[in-house]
Amino acid sequence: MTATPDKKALIEERVNTGLLGQWYPVAKSVEIKSTKPYGAVLLGQKLVLWRGADGTIKCIEDFCPHRGAPLSYGEIHEGNIGCRYHGVIVDGEGVVQRVPAMPECALEGRKALKSFHVTERFDAVFVYVPSLTQPEPPDLVMPPELTGGEWTGFLCTSVWEANYRYALDNLADPMHGCYLHSESFTLAYGSKQDLMKLDKTDHGFHVSRVGQVGDNFDWSEFVVHPGNMYCFLDIPYPPAAGPGGNMRIVGFTTPVDATTCKVFFWRLRKVSGLAAESWRFLYRAVLEEHHWNVLEQDRVMLEGMPDDARKREMLYQHDLGVSRIRQVLTRAAKEQIEAELAQVAAE
Ligand code: FES
Ligand SMILES: [Fe+2]
Repeated sequence: MTATPDKKALIEERVNTGLLGQWYPVAKSVEIKSTKPYGAVLLGQKLVLWRGADGTIKCIEDFCPHRGAPLSYGEIHEGNIGCRYHGVIVDGEGVVQRVPAMPECALEGRKALKSFHVTERFDAVFVYVPSLTQPEPPDLVMPPELTGGEWTGFLCTSVWEANYRYALDNLADPMHGCYLHSESFTLAYGSKQDLMKLDKTDHGFHVSRVGQVGDNFDWSEFVVHPGNMYCFLDIPYPPAAGPGGNMRIVGFTTPVDATTCKVFFWRLRKVSGLAAESWRFLYRAVLEEHHWNVLEQDRVMLEGMPDDARKREMLYQHDLGVSRIRQVLTRAAKEQIEAELAQVAAE
């Protein structure tokens, strides 16, 4: 007799490793080349990406069908990937094309590896992780700040040695701005006491401080679509930072494995023409370093927290956003696990 799976534990595990049925950014576009494979880890799975001869990106499991060597250690041959160990060549669909060491080897022509849908948006490479109920990718809905053409900005990425949930909690927690970042160039202002409120939006929620808007990191908003999730927030800029008002951050968080995540932040300002040029210059010359310092403060804090902090934490009123983002993840994980259990039961 097989033991009944503990549904609650499965849901918790799914939240912890990352939801399926999602598009996740894994790399900057410039990092994926046609001359060299790129190894990535997504939801604990090792993947290899490279650019085919036509420039489109391929993504398959990073596992040689022969004996399991990482294909990402290999080389690109005419748009396919060749294993470094004994030379087996696999294409972008995960089909063995050639076994150069062995004439007429039966492995040739076999679909041996999973392949993944990939798309490039605004300098980032997104990979789709299928789920039982969404095997084919739904639309990847990008934020209007990136699609509208009114904003100018930069993509920055960073790998944090913390579960992705900590990065999401951190983004849903505006109150940390005036404490953790109190020594920083742009986040040193505003009161250190407040209440939080939470408002539902069409595709997610908005969490904000009750007592102040525009003095610090005073709100953030999560946008949840069937195939992806992101958040955005504003960092107030002093007048000395030139035209364009606040800096907006659009953030995507990728679960790498249970103890690592990769954050993708677009830093944007509503400027065009000459103002866009001067912001680019100012950003590179002065602001970028300040922003990295702030991001480092987040990284160090989250990496210092134990992996199971939630077992002992004591939330209070300010954690409205934290509670809501966890609820969003848990609900989605529950749907996935229930569908999977129903399929097992039907077999
Ligand atoms: S392990 Fe890749 S060719 Fe042998
Ligand atoms: Fe922060």
